[in-house]
Amino acid sequence: MRRLDKLYLGTNTKMYKTIADTCAFLSRLEELTEDIPKEELELFVIPSYTALDAAVRTVKDSKIKIGSQNMGWEDEGQFTGEISPVMLNEIGVDLVMIGHSERRHVMGETDQEEERKAAKALGSGFTALLCIGETLEEKNYGISDEVLRTQLKIGLHSIDGAQARKLWVAYEPVWAIGVNGIPADEHYADEKHWVIKKTLCELFGDETGSDIPVLYGGSVNPGNAELLIRMPNIDGLFIGRSAWEADHFNQIIRAVMPIWKEG
Ligand code: 13P
Repeated sequence: MRRLDKLYLGTNTKMYKTIADTCAFLSRLEELTEDIPKEELELFVIPSYTALDAAVRTVKDSKIKIGSQNMGWEDEGQFTGEISPVMLNEIGVDLVMIGHSERRHVMGETDQEEERKAAKALGSGFTALLCIGETLEEKNYGISDEVLRTQLKIGLHSIDGAQARKLWVAYEPVWAIGVNGIPADEHYADEKHWVIKKTLCELFGDETGSDIPVLYGGSVNPGNAELLIRMPNIDGLFIGRSAWEADHFNQIIRAVMPIWKEG
């Protein structure tokens, strides 16, 4: 698999930052990473819905992209509590995250729902970040590859090759995420990334499939970020807790950029 021409680094702030927290975080991150050319780094932040409008205004003219943590699959309708792509477009959001582990396993979303959301997000002009990953039980049964392939094949069922050009995938094993998570060993993560990349090539052809960035997420921290980014099939990192202070996030960015450049 060839290396992509950019490194992908981003954070999902989950349900932690208020509007004020988000804006302060983004301003500092922008200042700290100003010197890094946007041709080299795809830097993104995915805050809570309430902070999206202010977040987009804060990073205007910078390279930081803003994403939403979820999206409804219709433009409008009787869907109390959902946010439509029209509303996200109105704000000027760049990307939409779909199928985060907490959406799947805490809120009970299914592969079929992720498919509708992925199709709608891409059809509405957003970059779609589809998150996939096996549970610990599935890993112990030895069916991780099958689970990842199933999540990709259902989640991307109605996506065509042209739409796939705006698709990113995050491999986030459920057992690796959050305060009780155990980070995946870099070799295990790389092996799963290879399975994901092979499946994307099967679905969209080698040319398009191998250009889809595949990011690793799940307890990324200053101790394992460099090891992960050295692996040939890992195109970027999707970070939670370790990136929620702009200075800490910047330290990780500075540590992995040169390794990726050596690539
Ligand atoms: P942690 O890095 O806190 O495990 O979270 C990862 C994640 O869920 C990113 O979406």
